[in-house]
Amino acid sequence: MHKMNSNALFVVLVVAVGVGAVALPHSRQSSPGKVFLFGGATEDTSANIYDALRNATGKPSPNIVVAITAASSLAIGLEAYYIDDPGSWSYERLFTFYGFQPSVLQLARDNWEEGASNSTSLGQANIRLVEAADVIFFNGGDQSRHSRSWFNTDGSDSDILGVVRRRFLDGAIVAGTSAGAAIMSKRTYGEGYSYGYFYFNADLKECDIGETLQDDRDGTNSFRYSDNGGHMQGFGFVQEALVDTHVDARGRFGRLPAAMRSTLTPYGIGVGEDTALYINGEEAVVLGNDGVWWVDSSEAQFGIGPYFTVTGLLVSYLTEGDRLNLATKEVISTKPLITTNEGVAYDSRDVFTGREGIRSITTLVTSNSTRSTGRSKERNPTANVVFHRGQGELAYTMDGKFTVDKLHMDIYSI
Ligand SMILES: *[C@@H]1O[C@H](CO)[C@@H](O)[C@H](O)[C@H]1NC(C)=O
Ligand SMILES: *[C@@H]1O[C@H](CO)[C@@H](O)[C@H](O)[C@H]1NC(C)=O
Ligand SMILES: *[C@@H]1O[C@H](CO)[C@@H](O)[C@H](O)[C@H]1NC(C)=O
Repeated sequence: MHKMNSNALFVVLVVAVGVGAVALPHSRQSSPGKVFLFGGATEDTSANIYDALRNATGKPSPNIVVAITAASSLAIGLEAYYIDDPGSWSYERLFTFYGFQPSVLQLARDNWEEGASNSTSLGQANIRLVEAADVIFFNGGDQSRHSRSWFNTDGSDSDILGVVRRRFLDGAIVAGTSAGAAIMSKRTYGEGYSYGYFYFNADLKECDIGETLQDDRDGTNSFRYSDNGGHMQGFGFVQEALVDTHVDARGRFGRLPAAMRSTLTPYGIGVGEDTALYINGEEAVVLGNDGVWWVDSSEAQFGIGPYFTVTGLLVSYLTEGDRLNLATKEVISTKPLITTNEGVAYDSRDVFTGREGIRSITTLVTSNSTRSTGRSKERNPTANVVFHRGQGELAYTMDGKFTVDKLHMDIYSI
């Protein structure tokens, strides 16, 4: 712990990342518009989520246009739209079942120049669908393919993305699952694993449109390639926060703060599987069966390395019905406050594995412990993840679901 107090290791971000950077800016501003983020692996039977999406349009049978641009090709994307899988419905069947009128864009990474242009008949047909849509829904897969399909190679908006932005300002909902949610941030990041982001000290590869998000700077047979990741331009419908998905199933709460530092984004949203966060202007509400992490770096201090170090992150975890005010950053839960604390918090020995983070924080807030200390299973170095109580954190529970409001999280090497 001595290391933790050394000024040599603790410098503000402006020093840590060099010229032009400021401490991750935070503000009371929030973006206008309606964004519906699905954390991936949504069950076809999760009527609460799909009904909320339909209801959010204010129409009984809204038009939803599906972009399959995270698929590897137009043909494969159209298959996911039209053809049921053994375990899951096609998008067409799914959205029809929940009362939408679905359509699909003939746009993918292998035809983007034609499909995104307003001077081709294919592009014009796509643009007409966007013009008529109440919801524009982006599929799951790989978000670098979304960016390849929707941006020009120089990073400017394609003609059709310009139309999506106009529809968004007019009140259309932009929605997406998994990669389709991750692309909503100003920068989108991906690939790799929490330990790799820690090991490489939040040094994500800065990728261009048309590249993948894999960090190939040490070649494609390297640890960096398998465990680190990259970031590139995203759509920016969510302005102040980075979006990650599958967060508990894949232990991604550990990579989110590293990606926040790498992209200079002050807040992080990590949506769990079969869960959604509906952002309507300043107010966000959680739907579904798992939870959403909200990570706030406004009081955090990032170290310089060699491994990723941060202290003083504020971490909240919200479940169905909970609300987050994006202007004030206030967490609002209708669940009863936890007032009795018994037992000890769980200390994970493999903290970046699925559900270990959430187990750590929920056992902490019900226990009489002041901290939960988790470790990576990897050694040399080991990543230490400490959740601890400070002043003012609150926790609520009902029917086995928890709300945690402003726990502190530190990550450092031992
Ligand atoms: C449906 O939407 C309206 C406003 O658009 C909202 O007041 C209501 O709570 C929503 N109902 C459900 C079940 O989501
Ligand atoms: C095509 O898109 C560009 C912007 O990308 C816009 O300036 C132009 O007006 C559009 N043309 C038509 C016919 O919509
Ligand atoms: C906390 O709970 C543990 C296990 O129930 C118990 O052994 C310990 O005495 C408690 N500590 C305090 C400070 O209440």
